[in-house]
Amino acid sequence: MALTSHGSIPVAERLSRFSYAIRNVVLEAKRVEAQGRTVRYLNIGDPIAFGFQTPPHLIEAVERAMRDGHNGYGPSAGSADARDAVAQEFTSRGFPVSPDRAFITAGTSEAIELCLTALVNEGQDVLVPLPTYPLYTAVLAKLGARARFYRTDPHRGWSPDLDHLRSLITPATRVLVVIDPNNPTGASYSTATRRGLLELAEEHGLVLLADEVYGDLGYAGPVPSIGSLDPDAALITFSSLSKAYLAPGWRTGWMGVGRSPRLNDVVAAIGKLADGRLCSSVPMEHAVTAALRGDRSHQLAFRAALQERASVTAASLNAIPGVSCVEPIAGFYAMPKISLPPGATDQDYVLALLRATGVLCVYGSGFGMPASDGYLRVVFLAAPALLREIFTLMAEFTRGYLGT
Ligand SMILES: Cc1ncc(COP(=O)(O)O)c(C=O)c1O
Repeated sequence: MALTSHGSIPVAERLSRFSYAIRNVVLEAKRVEAQGRTVRYLNIGDPIAFGFQTPPHLIEAVERAMRDGHNGYGPSAGSADARDAVAQEFTSRGFPVSPDRAFITAGTSEAIELCLTALVNEGQDVLVPLPTYPLYTAVLAKLGARARFYRTDPHRGWSPDLDHLRSLITPATRVLVVIDPNNPTGASYSTATRRGLLELAEEHGLVLLADEVYGDLGYAGPVPSIGSLDPDAALITFSSLSKAYLAPGWRTGWMGVGRSPRLNDVVAAIGKLADGRLCSSVPMEHAVTAALRGDRSHQLAFRAALQERASVTAASLNAIPGVSCVEPIAGFYAMPKISLPPGATDQDYVLALLRATGVLCVYGSGFGMPASDGYLRVVFLAAPALLREIFTLMAEFTRGYLGT
């Protein structure tokens, strides 16, 4: 075989704009592990990694589907049964969705990608919260579109700053992304804030993408869909089996497109894109039906476990000099702030913490925050006793780091 003298194969330029901090930090963690230190992975929101269990009736539904021969391709938008279940779910939460506007996807992640691909041209703008969930910026980078970050305010429970949001809207703006309950802040928004978001979207002709993947994980109970405040809004809502149904590895989610006729072309576009990837995982669609029509009692226990961990997390972090943390009210993430010395970055702190203690968090700049602000994201799914141990390590390290 002839050997050519060409150099290594260049990758596409768009890759230089694509980054996903939550997994990037693992590289350094593996190095630390190779040196014999135990690493505490507080970087990734996977309840299974912390001992939570997928509900058995979902596993049985998938097993049965495979045994019953549901192993071929299915309709690209999802089976009629699963689409019915999704439509019924959103409708019962106050946002009417008809089955022909429900889609089954490879997680919320694919729903996000399908929607943004269907809606945004190169050079157009999408409003995303700051801090953000980094998949949005990563997908927008692939599409050649632009993320415009609207601030959320830790002094008001990480609520969106609607005036800042309004100031970012231009004729190039197409979409407003709302993540409520929120990753990475653990916030959920007031009705007044939600109305403000809906009104801004309506006033400027934007599509509102409502990422509601943590909707069942409000500690006070399931959080209503933002769409329930305006069933006619140009709104698309997403969720999945990953968080509230404890099956993130199954890569199964869904979306519901609202009944607004302004979204008719968008439904057709999403359907066209869905055709191109053939279908979602057919056996897992049976779990969607089982999840949405079946017993949800596991969520009660899960919410209680999360609430306990949230309060341990906020109390432990707020007790460290130079650290402040807004107590989460939903989900399993917190976003503490470290008062960094001048010149230090959040990444410096996260890497030093990892090397000294084996505790792995994600730096806030991975979620779009300025690196000198000193934010980091903590996943608090570990058992309370282990969390206390981890925060003791973090406290000792931080006292030394900040010289407090
Ligand atoms: C806000 C948010 N959206 C979407 C996702 C992706 O979830 P899925 O596993 O359903 O693709 C996550 C995962 O952490 C998330 O936090």
